[in-house]
Amino acid sequence: MFMKKILVTGGAGYIGSHTCVELLNAGYELVVIDNFSNSKKEALENIKKITGKDFVFYEMNYLDREKLEKVFKENEIEAVINFAGFKAVGESVEKPLEYYINNVSGALVLLDTMKKFNVKKFVFSSSATVYGDPEIIPITEECKIGGTTNPYGTSKYMIELILQDLYKSDNTWDIVILRYFNPVGAHESGLLGEEPKGIPNNLMPYITRVANGTLDELSVFGNDYNTHDGTGVRDYIHVVDLSIGHVRAIEKLNKENSGIYVYNLGTGTGYSVLDMVKAFEKANNVKVKYKIAPRRKGDIAVCYSNPSKAKQELNFKTTKTLEDMCRDSWNFQQKLND
Ligand code: WQD
Repeated sequence: MFMKKILVTGGAGYIGSHTCVELLNAGYELVVIDNFSNSKKEALENIKKITGKDFVFYEMNYLDREKLEKVFKENEIEAVINFAGFKAVGESVEKPLEYYINNVSGALVLLDTMKKFNVKKFVFSSSATVYGDPEIIPITEECKIGGTTNPYGTSKYMIELILQDLYKSDNTWDIVILRYFNPVGAHESGLLGEEPKGIPNNLMPYITRVANGTLDELSVFGNDYNTHDGTGVRDYIHVVDLSIGHVRAIEKLNKENSGIYVYNLGTGTGYSVLDMVKAFEKANNVKVKYKIAPRRKGDIAVCYSNPSKAKQELNFKTTKTLEDMCRDSWNFQQKLND
């Protein structure tokens, strides 16, 4: 267990807030920063409500070097988990500079400040998207990365390269790169979850909005893929399982003095779009209207992980079922409308 604090950037966001809960429950002390560019202040209150624990908070942009230095001066920080960053694939195509500045420059400012204060333990949120069109399924960490098709994905790829170069230049860094598959679900309390702005791009938030009548029907993007029912297959992972993966990553950094480690965080099971629709209907006893639509540009047929490395080296194993994911997503959506 670290004696000092863990800095969590983007701690009010979807994955950040759930990870704060798991870290606090595991007994870690936190410093959280967020500028609420894609999150709400209530998330911080809800983290405290769920855990009964408090943490230090700064409302700031992680690109603000001066303020960031103040955070490091005012707190004894031992490790950093970086959740700050934009994540909407479509938007990244429209606004590439914003994405590269926020994601890549942000990470650079953060790493440079860490270096200045001699803090060298870092957990980075990467994405399965760095595998592009994957070489093999299930995807192992050894698969080639690159070939990303949008600025969001490329920003994650670029930061991974930067981290590898950084470690090569100074092997006293201790870095864990986590490649998330498809995070879904919400905290079982219904107090934390994902609230995408506008019309959602991702499948699960779209399904919850069709189920509650906000959106008319789901467009299933393609039913002519080479999969069991023709629709796209993904590795959906419950956000609480994913958050526990970060606690395991911190434990790894605790154990190792230095190194750079890469792990897939997924369940290892692939479900199709229609599997998801059916599971959601069954878990929640609601109807999800859908139609078959053309394939979405940039989509691949199948993407799921080989989760063995995280299991072996991090002792990480998912426990939540597809039913849990569907039930918790719906519970959160309904509480939002209350
Ligand atoms: C899942 C499946 C769609 C919406 C993206 C990013 C990735 C990561 C997660 C993170 C696919 C189908 C979807 C809809 C549909 N980003 N679908 N109708 O594309 O696997 O991954 O989100 O922050 O980097 O690329 O996730 O949820 O968009 O799609 O049929 O309205 O659902 O075609 O098969 P994806 P998704």
